[in-house]
Amino acid sequence: MGFVTASAPGKCILFGEHAVVYGHPAVAVAIDQRISVKIQPSPNNLWLLDGSSLNMNRNPHIKGLIEKLWPEQFGAPPLSIHIEGNIPRASGLGSSAALSVATAAALRMARGRWVSKTDDTQQQHWLEGFGSTITKSEPYDNSHGFFAPESPAERYHITGKSSVDYDECAILAHSVEAAAQQGIASPMDSSTCSRGGIVIISDVIEQGIDYLYQRTLAMKDATRHWHIHEMAPPTNSDEVYLVIGSTGIHAPTGKQVAKVADMLQQDPSRMKEIDTIGQIARRGIKALREGDFAAVGRTMTENQLMLSSIGVSSPELDNLIRVASPSSLGAKLTGAGGGGCMVALTRNPKETSNAIELAGGRTLISRLGSSGLSIDESQNTTFWTKP
Ligand code: PMV
Repeated sequence: MGFVTASAPGKCILFGEHAVVYGHPAVAVAIDQRISVKIQPSPNNLWLLDGSSLNMNRNPHIKGLIEKLWPEQFGAPPLSIHIEGNIPRASGLGSSAALSVATAAALRMARGRWVSKTDDTQQQHWLEGFGSTITKSEPYDNSHGFFAPESPAERYHITGKSSVDYDECAILAHSVEAAAQQGIASPMDSSTCSRGGIVIISDVIEQGIDYLYQRTLAMKDATRHWHIHEMAPPTNSDEVYLVIGSTGIHAPTGKQVAKVADMLQQDPSRMKEIDTIGQIARRGIKALREGDFAAVGRTMTENQLMLSSIGVSSPELDNLIRVASPSSLGAKLTGAGGGGCMVALTRNPKETSNAIELAGGRTLISRLGSSGLSIDESQNTTFWTKP
């Protein structure tokens, strides 16, 4: 029987959370912790998740991806899905984006892709799919021509890893994340979990780093645009580690974002603090580009001072950051704050991790900027193709 296993990393934010909501850059890095998704044809013709019946309503990301990539109305057969991984859920580390990116890749691999037949196979054009440069991304809408032509002579089918595309997996993951979160999601998690390495998101095109694509999302009140960039991890990245410490306290991102919005509404002059976080993030990007980890760490600590000042830290986060500091280059909360996780940049991961654990935090150790989406194993793909 055929199977495909794809995996994607989690992420943590090094600079710029909260200020990114107001247009400033934020820097996210892929971490070593991953989620792996294996799909196979179902043995009993029912949708299965980890051996039990798949409840679509409880798994909105998977449901959304199935609707887009594996449509039953075109005869796509039920699958058996297995999920494994070591990214803690609901802790701001990108577990749902990693799940979505890996699932999208596995489904694409299991159906392959129709492309136009050209003499030069380097110049294939997709006849189906979703992507940043494709304005009409509804693959089943014949009227827009973004559809496999009827004549077999004009198309051919690619299979295997070459049918999988980072951008498509990221764009699909972003769309199902937004659908699962009342229409609001930034593309930071989906882009970082797909590309890996270091990803920078901003309202403007940032100078000196590689530009990838623009993302647009129509939200309830407005349409938002983001520019996504990437940076290869510095060549001396193997000198340092990230130690992520979880407070174990669940603090929903929406609540923290609303807290900052209230603060700014009451006192618009406090936008200065948000602007300062933006400047700090740009300094962080420069330090990363130069591979100057002492400066990266100092900049993280400065970023934490400002996050504390706008009220999104917490006593538990402050405590873990305090105990991590003597053995690290810098430390700050990561993500929305109020609970959730902190991250320390360190040359002594064991020492930093022990200090955090002694203070009651649970830790993960990662390199900085792990690899992105990968197809890890496959056999006898393809198991369904849109006719
Ligand atoms: O905790 P996370 O990974 O969802 O990060 C939230 C980051 C914020 O800047 C606070 C919100 C946002 O949408 O960017």
